[in-house]
Amino acid sequence: MRNLTEANLTDTVVSKLGPDIDVRFRQVATSLIRHLHAFVRETELTEPEWFAGIQFLTATGHKCDDRRQEFILLSDTLGVSMLVDAINHRKPSGAAETTVLGPFYRPGAPDRPMWADIFDGLPGSDGGPPGEPTYLSGRVIDTDGKPIAGATLDVWQTDSEGMYDVQRPGGAAAYARGRFNTGPDGRFGLRTVKPVSYAIPTDGPVGVMLAAMGRHPFRPAHVHMIVSAPGFAPVTTHLFVAGDPYLDTDAVFAVKQSLIVDFVSHPAGPTPDGGASPTPFRTASYDFRLVRQAE
Ligand code: BEZ
Ligand code: FE
Repeated sequence: MRNLTEANLTDTVVSKLGPDIDVRFRQVATSLIRHLHAFVRETELTEPEWFAGIQFLTATGHKCDDRRQEFILLSDTLGVSMLVDAINHRKPSGAAETTVLGPFYRPGAPDRPMWADIFDGLPGSDGGPPGEPTYLSGRVIDTDGKPIAGATLDVWQTDSEGMYDVQRPGGAAAYARGRFNTGPDGRFGLRTVKPVSYAIPTDGPVGVMLAAMGRHPFRPAHVHMIVSAPGFAPVTTHLFVAGDPYLDTDAVFAVKQSLIVDFVSHPAGPTPDGGASPTPFRTASYDFRLVRQAE
């Protein structure tokens, strides 16, 4: 094991994996070592470039805390999250498609009744939060089209300034989140505001990387949700707003055609929850078709 060379270093490192290690770990570690070495060989990485890479990863770690996950952002912006998603959620045609979770999911959103506003409880939002009032509804169904009662939609989105609650300084109260259950007919309904396109955080190493790559940081407007029901594979996904200018250049590569929805404009008047809106509003509708989970 002396005088290792460009030619035999990779095989030597792989050969040091012990005989009694986990089989899957051996497969992943072997592939990682081989691909990392191949990358260094292919690019003939210089020492300053290698050290810049170390500094970049160090800065990425330093940027992480309980409200900021720069490594998820890095994975998302390099398309790795969507590749992992695609490999792990191959769906039959017509089933609700998955997309990235993103770094802004918070477990423990409040349970809300049918047609509740996900901004309810936000201090200072009496009379509705700023933005275009929107009624989002639909059904959760199985692959035969039968309604799934008691399915859960865990929903979150930005406010009309394109900010998530966790991005507000000073530990802002949780807002624009909620958990909804479907009724016996598989239906759900909720109120929100029309989402807006927004920039992912650029004040950390990922922002520096995007600029170096000549890429913009914008995501098309969307509402996030995790749709789940006992006996069915859960679906982590978004609904995107049709017509958004960033649908074809999403900074995290997460758009799928089947998830683009019309947010239809209506004049003031009767609303889908049986009430009436004094101002113009929008409606959007989507049926989530879930696949039964293997026993
Ligand atoms: C999001 O949509 O919340 C998101 C997803 C990936 C990276 C940054 C933000
Ligand atoms: Fe988002």
